[in-house]
Amino acid sequence: MHEQIQPMTTAPARAVRGEISVPGDKSISHRSIMLGAIANGTTTISNFLRGEDNFSTMAAFRSMGVAIEDDGRLVTVHGVGLHGLQEPDDVVDCGNSGTTIRLMTGLLSGQRFFSVLTGDQYLRRRPMKRVTEPLARMGAQISGRGHGTLAPLAITGAQLSGITYQSPIASAQVKSSLMLAGLYADGEMTISEPTLSRDHSERMLRYFGAGLETAGATVTLRGGQELQGREISVPGDISSAAFLLVAALIVPDSELLIRNVGINPTRTGVLDILLAMGGDIALQNQREVSGEPVADLLVRSSRLKGIEIGGDVVPRAIDEFPAICVAAALAEGTTVLRDARELRVKETDRIAAMAANLRLIGAGTIEETDDGMAIQGVESLAGGTVTSFGDHRIAMALSVAALACRSQVSIDDVSCVATSFPGFFELLVQVAVR
Ligand code: S3P
Repeated sequence: MHEQIQPMTTAPARAVRGEISVPGDKSISHRSIMLGAIANGTTTISNFLRGEDNFSTMAAFRSMGVAIEDDGRLVTVHGVGLHGLQEPDDVVDCGNSGTTIRLMTGLLSGQRFFSVLTGDQYLRRRPMKRVTEPLARMGAQISGRGHGTLAPLAITGAQLSGITYQSPIASAQVKSSLMLAGLYADGEMTISEPTLSRDHSERMLRYFGAGLETAGATVTLRGGQELQGREISVPGDISSAAFLLVAALIVPDSELLIRNVGINPTRTGVLDILLAMGGDIALQNQREVSGEPVADLLVRSSRLKGIEIGGDVVPRAIDEFPAICVAAALAEGTTVLRDARELRVKETDRIAAMAANLRLIGAGTIEETDDGMAIQGVESLAGGTVTSFGDHRIAMALSVAALACRSQVSIDDVSCVATSFPGFFELLVQVAVR
């Protein structure tokens, strides 16, 4: 993975302008490989995200006997059917990818073979009990460090039974892990979450021909359903677009068109938040592609104001808070974030990481709380030296902040950006007017 430390210094910009597109959606790209692998027939994927996290998923399925080709344009997955995966002959390395390890823990629990999942130093610190505990209730046999709560996880395939599970957190990784296990379980699997998390798994399972029922934040599916391979066109990742949206909002004289962005309502919390802050963002050319809604986003520099953020919008914007924190740091008044405790267990503790880094570049008063933070906006940021904590989204958020600083920002290591947004820095250079 990204073993080489890569420092980066970004200079201020006079404007952010242009017409761009961002790479494919990370969540949808993972799921297209996973469902394609266990489907019957072939799945072809265009605009697949060639990021390290998705390469981890690809490598995992290749190690279980799935032929996957990539000609640089299309990724082709030769599905082996529901029961066609083979025992991997080595430990499966999920790298930095929480989605890979959590979804695969569910999928592998119902196989007829043994497997071990691990990841990098960051992933091995992240909580796995949220999946191992409900999977154990279904009959899964999983052991791991910390009494089965941390990777590496060793999974001995077992016959699973469907259960009704009330998840204490809104997590698409938990929900999707249990749905994938549910495909291999006897009977029906029902998962309810406190508020609806991203529903790409539900949409793609339907697109692949599975029957499932959804009502509010509850989903039910029957085990044993065969999937049929399909053609998938992956929309641009709104989580990647968010960095460019904030860049254009905070730098004066900016106008940026971002084409082909996924606007699934379970992902558009960032648009709701930035619009509520006074951001000038227009959705154009709305359409549907492979079961997912898509639009072009036109964004112009705006005078932002602080707002209160909490409740249902939080899971709908969960990956965008590093970028939103930058917008808040330059907004008029104070932005208060609540109900976002999950940010403390992402690739790094994103509340602590953003608070520390924004202070280092001259932000206003920042108060951390257990489940959020309060950020007092200032007219402009100074610049300085910051740290990514090995987290791609912290690194990108700080690079965007740099565009609106009075002097440059130096980041200790941005190699992590390759996990989700290859070409990010090239795109930033392309749109930044200096
Ligand atoms: C993801 C779900 C979210 C998100 C992550 C991707 C997914 O995680 O933060 O980047 O693809 O299912 P949680 O399920 O932990 O909220």
